[in-house]
Amino acid sequence: MAPATFAVRVPPDIPRTGFARDVIAGLTATPKRIPPKYFYDETGCRLFEQITQQPEYYLTRTEIALLEAHAAEIAALLPPGAALIEFGMGNSVKGRILLRAATRLAAYVPVDIAEKTLMREAESVARDFPHLTVAPVVADFAMAFELPAAVRGLPLAGFFPGSTIGNLEPHEACAFLRRAGRLLGPGAILIVGVDLIKDASILNAAYNDAAGVTAAFNLNLLQRINRELGANFRLECFEHHAFFNRQLNRVEMHLASLKRQKVRVDGETIDFRAGETIHTENSYKYTLDSFRALARGADWKPLTAWTDERGYFAVHALQREESPSVAAH
Ligand code: AVJ
Repeated sequence: MAPATFAVRVPPDIPRTGFARDVIAGLTATPKRIPPKYFYDETGCRLFEQITQQPEYYLTRTEIALLEAHAAEIAALLPPGAALIEFGMGNSVKGRILLRAATRLAAYVPVDIAEKTLMREAESVARDFPHLTVAPVVADFAMAFELPAAVRGLPLAGFFPGSTIGNLEPHEACAFLRRAGRLLGPGAILIVGVDLIKDASILNAAYNDAAGVTAAFNLNLLQRINRELGANFRLECFEHHAFFNRQLNRVEMHLASLKRQKVRVDGETIDFRAGETIHTENSYKYTLDSFRALARGADWKPLTAWTDERGYFAVHALQREESPSVAAH
């Protein structure tokens, strides 16, 4: 029998970071996958901003138009003196729409893992809304996190725009909504932006823009792994794939290997077959009713939903039940 070989780590006592651990676990799994939260390094944030400006990517501009059209109605649902918690902020454009309309909010708590972007946006909101306590939290919105001391004791409201909830598996989305409910408290309001199921040609175009920005955004993940984990991915040997999976109501993004190849990542060798893919993102789409059912299952009561005339995107207002069911998870 051949002797077992062990990868040597130098220095030996430094554990892998969360990023390294998740990447190695995902690339040694079948099928290969990497969680989409790792798209958002500085370059990834910039590329995502560019995606939102592509003519095919209707999500951001449709949601912004809905928030602007209904800002007063949304603001009326938010309790005076409340802190608005924004999950997965990205940039502050959407938060600002609510902050301008809900003039009696006391505090704004943007939560995001992209620290630099978060801090820059939070500082600019603090400058533009001097009456507001702005208390950013660097955290993965999908994990439990503590609220900053500055907002403890205030009534809370939640804002989760962008259809970012679509990046979660439906059972994870349910768990997120439950956790948000526990954080925000009985009777709290949560405003959620959700992309709607629609014609596959429109969805496919939105994730395959002609300018190639979404492809660059997807491939940047390999660049980031090369840079931060000393890997040797050759970007020209991988290709962006995105398509609507009608059975599962989600747009899938993959990076497909153009040939049989080996890649070194953080001391491990990863083998790729020709055509094998790394699954990098799911973007689940809902109907108005399928999202309401998901919310109800997580102890939120759907109050109102606003949609554009094409029925492309929905902004839902949910209210936390006063006494949530005791069901587990
Ligand atoms: C920011 C997660 C909502 O799923 O549409 C855009 C990310 N991926 N193009 C989405 C994304 C490819 C986006 N979310």
